[in-house]
Amino acid sequence: MNEHLRIDRLRWWHLPEVARMETAIFGPEAWSEGILWTELSAGNDYRAVFDDDTGRDDAAIAGYMGIALGDTEAWINNIAVDAAYRRRGIARMLMDDALARSRAAGAKAVYLEVAVDNVPAQRLYDAYGFYGIGVRKNYYQHTGTDAAVMRMDL
Ligand SMILES: CC(C)(COP(=O)(O)OP(=O)(O)OC[C@H]1O[C@@H](n2cnc3c(N)ncnc32)[C@H](O)[C@@H]1OP(=O)(O)O)[C@@H](O)C(=O)NCCC(=O)NCCS
Repeated sequence: MNEHLRIDRLRWWHLPEVARMETAIFGPEAWSEGILWTELSAGNDYRAVFDDDTGRDDAAIAGYMGIALGDTEAWINNIAVDAAYRRRGIARMLMDDALARSRAAGAKAVYLEVAVDNVPAQRLYDAYGFYGIGVRKNYYQHTGTDAAVMRMDL
């Protein structure tokens, strides 16, 4: 089912499509194309899962993920999968890849923030052994939802 999917670096020319996905997935909390540009310009490591079997000339982006790599830690800045591609292991592909690169870069721990009411994402992180280390109150501006800060030891 996933044989037409491949993971590759996300490039600046993908950002208009990613910005459209952001709006569809995150609504008012979506990152704009400008914020995404800043993420890439800052050297953050973004990868996407591409679907080469779309019947079009270009591949579709099924999901994407961005991490910020420090000396001994990595932060997951963003992970999202197009609604049409969910529950096919695409987030797992992205996580496995990101964790392997974090480990190879010498990171000892990985951190992330997740909305306290985001059950699918929390299940995903639980499955990888992330655990809660704190709460950021009213972290999401438009909804006022709190974020759980999670850590995983590599
Ligand atoms: C969270 C998200 C990235 C998961 O992507 P996905 O490709 O569907 O996830 P996978 O198919 O790789 O699932 C991996 C595991 O995550 C958990 N999971 C994923 N979606 C789930 C759901 N809807 N309900 C419960 N558990 C879920 C399961 O443990 C799953 O393993 P399983 O399928 O063997 O049970 C996707 O739902 C998404 O893009 N959501 C909107 C954006 C978002 O919330 N991003 C996270 C911000 S912190």
